[in-house]
Amino acid sequence: MIILKSRDEIEKMRAAGKVVAAALAEIMENVVPGVTTRDIDQMAEEVILAHGAVPSFKGYRGYPATACIAINDEVVHGIPGARVLEEGDIAGIDIGAILAGYQGDSAVTIPVGKVSPEAERLIKVTREALFAGIRAAKIGNRLSDIGHAVQQHAEKFGYSVVRDLVGHGIGRDMHEDPQVPNYGRPGRGPKLQEGMTLAIEPMVNMGGPEVVSLSDGWTIVTADRSLSAHFEHTVAITKSGPDILTLRKGETYP
Ligand code: MF3
Ligand code: CO
Repeated sequence: MIILKSRDEIEKMRAAGKVVAAALAEIMENVVPGVTTRDIDQMAEEVILAHGAVPSFKGYRGYPATACIAINDEVVHGIPGARVLEEGDIAGIDIGAILAGYQGDSAVTIPVGKVSPEAERLIKVTREALFAGIRAAKIGNRLSDIGHAVQQHAEKFGYSVVRDLVGHGIGRDMHEDPQVPNYGRPGRGPKLQEGMTLAIEPMVNMGGPEVVSLSDGWTIVTADRSLSAHFEHTVAITKSGPDILTLRKGETYP
C-alpha cells in the first residue's frame, strides 16, 4: 500500500531531508585521501545529531553505523571502519536521518582526490541517470517510467544498472511501498500521484549488472569487481513536478 503524504507531511520530510543534505555537504567538503571511512561516519553522525535528528540506518536490522560507504567495486551498504581512502578511489556515501518522525535518505558518490577519467565519467553518468529518473517522477507517468529513464541513460554509455537492489517509497518508515526499480519497460505499474514520496537511487556498474554480498552480511560488490556508483534523492511528486527533498544548498542539476 502506497502512503500518500499531505503537504504538511512533505514539509516535515523536507526538514529531515535538509539534515541529510547538510551531512552530505559536510562530507563532500572533507573527503580527501587519508581519511578513514569511520571519520566520514562520525562527520555524518555529528551533523545529524546537531540538528536534533537521529541516524536512521543505525540499528536498522542490526546495521552498526550512521553511513553506508561503498568504495570502488562496492555497490552499497559498506560498513564504515578503519579503511583509509586513497587518491583515485570513488566513495559512495549513503545517509538517512529521522526528524520529528519523518525520514530523509540520500546518497552521493565522491571522487577521492584525482580519479581516472573513466571513474569520473561513471560518477557523472550515474548522477545524470538519477536526475533522468527524477524528471520522470511526475503526475501522468507510471512508476516504471522512472526506472526506464534511469536505465536508458546509463546504458547509453555502456554501463549497466543493478537490478537486485531498488529504490523505495519513504515517509515515516525508511522503506515503504512501492519498490522503485532502476530498470524496466515504460508505462507499467501504479500511476504516479500527488503526495507520493520516493527514494530514487540508481546503482550503476561499469561492467555487468550482477552483484554479490560479502561475508560481513552487508557489503554488496559487483560480481565482476568493476567500479560502481550510487546516487540517491528523496523526491515528492507534486502538481508542480518532482520536488527534491534532499537537495543540497547550491546543488544544481541537469
Ligand atoms: N539508502 C539505503 C536504502 O534505502 C540505506 C539502507 S542501509 C541500512 O536501503 F543500513 F539501513 F540498511
Ligand atoms: Co534509500
